[in-house]
Amino acid sequence: MRTQVAIIGAGPAGLLLGQLLHKAGVDNVILERKYRDYVLSRIRAGVLEQGTVDLLTKAGVGARLCAEGLSHEGFALGFANRRLRIDLKGLTGGKIVTVYGQTEVTRDLMDARAAVGLTTIYEADDVTLHDFDGVNPRVSWRKDGASRELACDFIAGCDGFHGVSRTSIPAGAIEMFERVYPFGWLGVLADVPPCSHELIYAGHDRGFALCSMRSAIRSRYYIQCPLDANPATWSDQMFWDELRRRLDPEAASHVVTGPSIEKSIAPLRSFVAEPLRFGKLFLAGDAAHIVPPTGAKGLNLAASDVHYLSEALIEHYGEKSDAGIDGYSAKALDRIWKSERFSWAMTSMLHRFDRQNSFERRMQEAEFLYLEGSIAARTGLAENYVGLPF
Ligand code: APR
Ligand code: PHB
Repeated sequence: MRTQVAIIGAGPAGLLLGQLLHKAGVDNVILERKYRDYVLSRIRAGVLEQGTVDLLTKAGVGARLCAEGLSHEGFALGFANRRLRIDLKGLTGGKIVTVYGQTEVTRDLMDARAAVGLTTIYEADDVTLHDFDGVNPRVSWRKDGASRELACDFIAGCDGFHGVSRTSIPAGAIEMFERVYPFGWLGVLADVPPCSHELIYAGHDRGFALCSMRSAIRSRYYIQCPLDANPATWSDQMFWDELRRRLDPEAASHVVTGPSIEKSIAPLRSFVAEPLRFGKLFLAGDAAHIVPPTGAKGLNLAASDVHYLSEALIEHYGEKSDAGIDGYSAKALDRIWKSERFSWAMTSMLHRFDRQNSFERRMQEAEFLYLEGSIAARTGLAENYVGLPF
């Protein structure tokens, strides 16, 4: 088999890259370790920056997103039983975010790919990258007991944090930056109406809580929990009671409880790999970086990486220029680090850290008071939340 671009991973990054390349006439094949419904079963955040919405529309998957996505003109920060609204639209000259689950983004991209007959090889075992620093880059894998190989011009490593691409790079050629947070998020999905029409990020002495949603009748809630917590030991009632304790009285009074249809714990990590290019191999999305979900940047960073990489590859095949390819890593990393900073700052401000002293707790409170008292501070927060320019 041969293609122009071999894409590893059928998550949002790989699928979006595949669509954008196809639209520009660049042939590509996706190799995915899991089966289709497994990929769709992952519950992931879905707060989309306008740049991400525009890119998905360009990729041909904007219809359902525009019809079913929820436009959000603001969100709230909770602190010490108070709530501060961040007026995204007013502070950013009209920019908003769209709430639309990542599962739906992935589904739309999968359907669009199948509709144009592009090749996605699911359940590809032992995917291995070969000669990506040489003249004959190719990918091999095993399926149904047979070994297969795909020759290509380029490999896009879109296989997530636990993928094979980044770990195929010689240790001396890559530098990694990481912070693992000493807590996790216990998340619950329930078919109940949200307690508020906008998201609430609440910092509380008992720990962080987030009120989010998937639609007007499906809510997504999180509470900060110890890293070693076991979801099975949290009954629904225990979760609802703890969530209410961490919200301001008005929000707490509007929490509608119901049976959880999903309950899981996610760890929080900040991570960046540098650089993002190794010969014919490029990293994009979670393969390149991880952000704590407090800033809702994970999917949006995957989108900006894919924007830069697709433009670079299209330029290579179209104008026969490699300026974009040569500049991809630096350009993507510039935006990645700014989003890492925002996600780290939101996480640091809103969570309880075990060995935090009284001064550090006062610093968190001062962050909130400064935001409460300064349009300039809220504008800075808002321009990061709606997304810095691609
Ligand atoms: N071979 C083939 N596919 C693989 C391999 C491998 N060795 N390892 C992982 N994969 C697949 C995974 O099964 C997954 O479907 O790569 C895909 C990576 O998808 P994601 O982890 O969703 O990463 P990405 O596409 O970059 O999307 C980032 O997902 O994790 C969230 O918060 C993150 O919203 C962000 C988004
Ligand atoms: C979610 O709805 O799952 C969600 C929303 C915003 C975040 C994180 C998660 O910052």
